[in-house]
Amino acid sequence: MSSSTMQALVYNLRHEAAGIASVELRPVAPGAAFPAVEAGAHIDLHLGNGLVRSYSLTNPGERHRCVVAVLNDRNSRGGSRYVHEQLRVGQVIDIGAPRNHFRLQEDAPRSVLLAGGIGVTPVYAMLQRLAELQRPAQLIYCARSRTEAAYVNEIEALVQAHPMLSLRCHFDDEQGGPPNLVQLLDGHAKDTHFYACGPAPMLDAYERACAQLGQANVHLERFAAGTPAAVPTASQGYTVELRKSGKTVQVAPGVVLLDALLDAGVTLDHSCREGVCGACETKILSGDVEHHDLILTAQERAANKSMMVCVSRCRSGSLVLDA
Ligand code: FES
Repeated sequence: MSSSTMQALVYNLRHEAAGIASVELRPVAPGAAFPAVEAGAHIDLHLGNGLVRSYSLTNPGERHRCVVAVLNDRNSRGGSRYVHEQLRVGQVIDIGAPRNHFRLQEDAPRSVLLAGGIGVTPVYAMLQRLAELQRPAQLIYCARSRTEAAYVNEIEALVQAHPMLSLRCHFDDEQGGPPNLVQLLDGHAKDTHFYACGPAPMLDAYERACAQLGQANVHLERFAAGTPAAVPTASQGYTVELRKSGKTVQVAPGVVLLDALLDAGVTLDHSCREGVCGACETKILSGDVEHHDLILTAQERAANKSMMVCVSRCRSGSLVLDA
């Protein structure tokens, strides 16, 4: 798992909306501080029974605590159910260092933030940061109903206090159906930066809408799938040269690269094993990589600088990694 975990005290559990609870974590030692948290970052919670799950942080800039919000997901593979049913105030758990694959372009002239359901968590953090920076931003908050929308009162208060921010809410039960994203995202200058986090169908629609509207500065963060897909593996084996550890590893047909590296005794952070958390990101020094993660953008894939070894693999020939 992660080589850089720290202990955290479950300081508070709070009902935020129907099916959503927030978890406030504080350092175990009085007066200690967590690493600084950027807007858009997430942390791993080590929940017991070997469960490790990543959740976005809602409190950028604070170091005395970390706050995440967790949806009690019907398709839970154990993580969200554990948080809602077993996690208790006073418990001590391990957490990972914050990671951020969903960074704000802080000097963008204008930002549009799209939240779908529990996807509001990193987006709410971004709105707080943009308020602090006094940058113009609009939050479009979509949820099935207001009662299922976490932090909506806090967001309304933030927007009221900062005239450069605005909020549009689309609650399906009030509007009679799901949002039309082309309409909601239309009308912005071409230097606007767009960010979205929410369920996969909404993010797919968001990408199509941004393409249709000719918007190029498009960022998103996907959740782990409810049911993990089988990790694609190569039908032919390949060789991986590891520059830092000086090892050469043979990846057999049908074997996941991460497993081959761990079996060879290579120390590598990993968590979700689904290409969504970024823990296993490894620098590529050379090689033809077939990417299957949900983190890297098309430009980052084309740059061929890093890969998520839990899901991605060598397409042909051999691979040289900085590991
Ligand atoms: S372990 Fe999460 S991206 Fe690889």
